[in-house]
Amino acid sequence: MTQSIELIATATFGLEAVVAQEIKDLGYENVKVENGRVVYAADMKAICRSNLWLRSADRVRLKVGEFKATTFDELFENTKALPWTEIIPANAAFPVDGKSVKSTLYSISDCQAIVKKAVVESMRTSFNKEWFEESGPLYRIEVALWKDIATLTIDTSGPGLHKRGYRIEKSSSPLRENLAAAMIMLARWNPHIPLIDPFCGAGTIPIEAALMGRNIAPGMQRNFVSEAWPNISKSFWKEAREEASNSATKDISLYIMGMDSDPRVLKNARKNAHAAGVENDIHFQESSFNKISSRKKYGKIICNPPYGERQGDLQEVEGLYKEMGKIFSELDTWSFYILSPHSKFEQLFGKKATKKRKLYNGNIKVHYYQFFGPAPPTK
Ligand SMILES: C[S@@+](CC[C@H](N)C(=O)[O-])C[C@H]1O[C@@H](n2cnc3c(N)ncnc32)[C@H](O)[C@@H]1O
Repeated sequence: MTQSIELIATATFGLEAVVAQEIKDLGYENVKVENGRVVYAADMKAICRSNLWLRSADRVRLKVGEFKATTFDELFENTKALPWTEIIPANAAFPVDGKSVKSTLYSISDCQAIVKKAVVESMRTSFNKEWFEESGPLYRIEVALWKDIATLTIDTSGPGLHKRGYRIEKSSSPLRENLAAAMIMLARWNPHIPLIDPFCGAGTIPIEAALMGRNIAPGMQRNFVSEAWPNISKSFWKEAREEASNSATKDISLYIMGMDSDPRVLKNARKNAHAAGVENDIHFQESSFNKISSRKKYGKIICNPPYGERQGDLQEVEGLYKEMGKIFSELDTWSFYILSPHSKFEQLFGKKATKKRKLYNGNIKVHYYQFFGPAPPTK
C-alpha cells in the first residue's frame, strides 16, 4: 500500500465531467466534480498515471489542505499547521501562486506572501534550519480562495498538460490539445468510426484522435515537474511509463482525415503528426472543405472552423457557415460536432443542434454544436 493522498485535476469550465470520466476510467473511484476541478482520492503512483494519461485536464495538483479563512491570521495559522515537511524536502524551491474568487481575502499578493511565510515557518520548526536556499526540485504551491475556503495545493505537472510535446509548428489559431481531446470524447468517437476535420489547421483534432485511437498516453513524449521529486519513487514513474507503452495498440487501422485550404498550415500539421508518431494514421488533404466527400456511410465531422476574429472577417465566416450547412447536408448519415463562438451559428448552418454545450477556447466563450446523424445499423 502506498500513501493515501488527494489529487485535484484542474479543468476548463464545462469540461469537468469529461475529466472526471477519464479519472474513473483510470480506475480511481472516489471522484468529486467541482467548479473547474475534479478532486479524487489516490496514491502517489496516481500522480504519475494521471499526468501521463489525462487528455482533457489542464494539470494535476496535490492537495495539501483546505480550510476556511476570512482573516490573514487564519490563513497563516491554518497553512502553518499543514504537513508541508512530509511533502517538501529542505532544499525544495517553493514559489507560491494565488487566486481569489468571491472571498474576503481578495489581495492575492498578500495571500501569497502570508502562505510563503507560513510554509517557511513550518519548515524552520521541522528541519531546524533558519534559511532555505531553494536550490532543489520545484514544488510550486498554490493558494486558491473560493468563497472564503482556501485550498492549498502543489503542482505536479509543470507545463500544462495540453503541452504534449508534438506541436513543433504553430498555425495561426491552434486549438489547445486538451480541448481537442475533450471535443472528440464528447462526440463519443471510437477508433472504428471514420473522422474528418475539414478545417484541421495544425492538425490538433486528427492527431488527438489518432493518439486516442491507438491508446497512446498523451504525456508519453514529455516530462513532468514531479519526476524530480524525491518523495515519488523512481520505480512508480518507470512502472507508469511501462504501463503506458504496453497499452498502445499497434494492429488497428484508423480512418482519420484532416483537410485545410492553406498549404502552409497543412505542412505543419504533417510535421506535428510525424512528431506525435501518428503520421500513418491520418490522411491530410490540401483542399477547401467544400470538396469533402467520403465513401463511408457513417462517420463524424469534428471541427473548429474559422471564427472571424478580425474586423471585417465576420461577414466572410457567416457565408462560410452557411456553405458548411449546405455541403455537410450531403453527408446526411454523418454526425457533425462544431466549435464556434457565433451565437447564430445554427441559424446560419440551417439546422438546430441536437445538443450544445458552453465551453471556453482560451478566453473565448464558444458553443460546441452537436448534430447527431442516424445511428448505424447494429450488426
Ligand atoms: C480556427 S482554425 C482551425 C485550427 C485547428 N483546429 C488547429 O488546432 O490548428 C481554422 C482553419 O480553417 C482553415 N480554412 C479557412 N477556410 C477554409 C476553407 N474554405 N476550407 C478549408 N479550410 C479552411 C484555415 O486555414 C485554418 O487553418
